[in-house]
Amino acid sequence: MPDYSLIQHFHMPSVYRNDHEIDLDQLTTLFNSVGWERRTVDRERLAQLVRGSLYVVSAWEGDRLVGFARAISDGASNAYISTVAVLPEYQKRGIGRELIQRLLAGRDHLQFVLHANERAYPFYLHLDVGFEPFDNILVRRRKF
Ligand SMILES: CC(C)(COP(=O)(O)OP(=O)(O)OC[C@H]1O[C@@H](n2cnc3c(N)ncnc32)[C@H](O)[C@@H]1OP(=O)(O)O)[C@@H](O)C(=O)NCCC(=O)NCCS
Repeated sequence: MPDYSLIQHFHMPSVYRNDHEIDLDQLTTLFNSVGWERRTVDRERLAQLVRGSLYVVSAWEGDRLVGFARAISDGASNAYISTVAVLPEYQKRGIGRELIQRLLAGRDHLQFVLHANERAYPFYLHLDVGFEPFDNILVRRRKF
């Protein structure tokens, strides 16, 4: 009799992509799953969020989008990481770490900035990839 309990603990390795071909329905599902409905209500704005980011990384289990991260950048000097998300049922499997490592890889000439929410802040420190608190950061918040 095979031991089916092993199957429960077996996860297909995620496939990672660096392209901008992100299905907007799946991105909507992913963002909504982590509470970012305000980012998905306007579809054209969501499309622009992807289009306007120089670096986009996505994680896939089969044809299911399970993780997404992006950086807005000039590719020369500065970059801003935003909207890092992993589907709740796929969290704590190393996908978030892999997304960030892929955004940073080979880009040591760039200064990366990110504004983490309270829950994710310790995640970025824990990764130990060089993020540190930095003074004098100013933010002009979006109005809508
Ligand atoms: C934050 C988020 C992207 C992390 O993704 P994840 O796939 O669960 O993270 P990983 O499994 O790659 O975690 C990597 C390491 O960080 C740790 N970690 C994960 N989330 C953490 C948290 N909130 N606080 C502290 N450590 C955390 C993991 O335990 C793991 O540690 P290890 O490498 O020593 O085993 C995910 O929780 C998420 O999508 N959250 C909701 C959206 C969000 O708030 N995004 C951040 C926007 S700024």
